[in-house]
Amino acid sequence: MSTTVIILAAGKGTRMRSHLPKVLQPLAGQPLLGHVIETSKQLHAQNIITIFGHGGDLVKNTFAQENIDWVEQTEQLGTGHAVQMTLPILPHTGTSLILYGDVPLVRKETLEQLLNATKETGIGMITLNVEDPTGYGRIVRTNGKVQAIVEHKDASDEQRQIKEINTGIYCVENAKLHQWLPRLSNNNVQGEYYLTDIVEMAVQDGLEIASIQPQQAFEVEGVNDRVQLSALEREFQKQQALTLMREGVTLTDPNRFDLRGSVKVGQDVKIDINVIIEGHCELGDFVEIGAGCVLKSTKIASGTKVQPYSVFDSAVVGEDTQIGPFARLRPGAVLANDVHIGNFVEVKNSTLGQGSKANHFTYLGDSQVGTGCNIGAGTITCNYDGANKHKTIIGDHAFIGSNSSLVAPVQIGNYATIGAGSVITRNVADHTLAFERAQQTEKANYQRPQKAQK
Ligand code: UD1
Ligand code: CA
Repeated sequence: MSTTVIILAAGKGTRMRSHLPKVLQPLAGQPLLGHVIETSKQLHAQNIITIFGHGGDLVKNTFAQENIDWVEQTEQLGTGHAVQMTLPILPHTGTSLILYGDVPLVRKETLEQLLNATKETGIGMITLNVEDPTGYGRIVRTNGKVQAIVEHKDASDEQRQIKEINTGIYCVENAKLHQWLPRLSNNNVQGEYYLTDIVEMAVQDGLEIASIQPQQAFEVEGVNDRVQLSALEREFQKQQALTLMREGVTLTDPNRFDLRGSVKVGQDVKIDINVIIEGHCELGDFVEIGAGCVLKSTKIASGTKVQPYSVFDSAVVGEDTQIGPFARLRPGAVLANDVHIGNFVEVKNSTLGQGSKANHFTYLGDSQVGTGCNIGAGTITCNYDGANKHKTIIGDHAFIGSNSSLVAPVQIGNYATIGAGSVITRNVADHTLAFERAQQTEKANYQRPQKAQK
């Protein structure tokens, strides 16, 4: 049986008070709607139809890579009206799951359960029992069987006591949607076309409505403002943290961990507090990440220890290296095994060979550093002449004295030694000592200036 997913995403989201359409607000670094699309894809939906309205082009362009049918709802006349917009392209066979672009965390397993429950009946829904049902549609049952959904504003005092609410998520046979949707009216308190009215139509047709409840309430919670957004963000992060801990990662505090993407982990990885992981990262066995580090699209091989407050973007780090604190590895930083990168060292588009060290205050850009090198404190590769970037090549076992400037393009030979404080503009041969500095001037018995008498 083929499944269509219909995603309602036309609302403005006034309460977000944002220039960004609500469904593009990020949760764990991904737009809300992106989470729903991701889940739909995991369900192997044959087609995904998204109803858009506010911020239309921006929403569409954000998901240009996805195979999605877009349907515009120019005026938001209600949830029923929104789904009516899909009828011209909605298949006549199969089943539709109706989801929301601002309800990001519904689980695939829950939707599969709904699909199963609906097989017999042709229509099913997810409901939830809540303490405070104010504002929600109420589930009206007789002898346990769903009879109707009554919106809060249309409900009698007695109906408002009902604590089982409509989450808005349904599964309905497409043939039925074609039958029922054209018959919706807006004859209600809000003057809207209510999608919920199809439930009563189904009952009139003699159908029983299947209903399930989610494992956890957050799955069906929507985002209307930034307070709710932050609550779902924390919930999502908690789930990810639990998964990682079950995979063998030690998280010092799962409440102070953020994964905005994905991470592949070995065993006995330790992650201290306030670490942020973005894009896709990989951490090998025994890797330790200190407090406050930010890792984006980075691979770190086994045994490497990263000290606090180091920042990585698109870096590849070998085994048993030591990094930080306060190190910055930028795109194209490739470190072999046993490398040391210390505090306030920035590495960009550069490779460092096995056992090389740059321990303090250094910039390595567009460089190729051999094995076993010592890059002294304050070494700068001057890679930029104001117009173009140039390469610095440093041979194996070179020793670069502190506070040296290597003006690229320049090549330093194997076992070459650079004296501290040098500005090196010409190539240095293997096994050669090069230094560049003025003679030291001395004045014996020097008298320092005195403060003027008043
Ligand atoms: C709806 C349900 C209510 C349920 C509640 C759960 C109806 C009539 N009521 O309430 O029973 O308890 O959801 O949150 O369906 N949207 C559009 N186009 C529209 C109207 C809405 O795309 O014309 C989208 C909104 O962007 C939002 C979603 O549909 O993502 C739900 O709309 P909202 O107004 O929040 O729901 P209610 O109608 O209040
Ligand atoms: Ca509404």
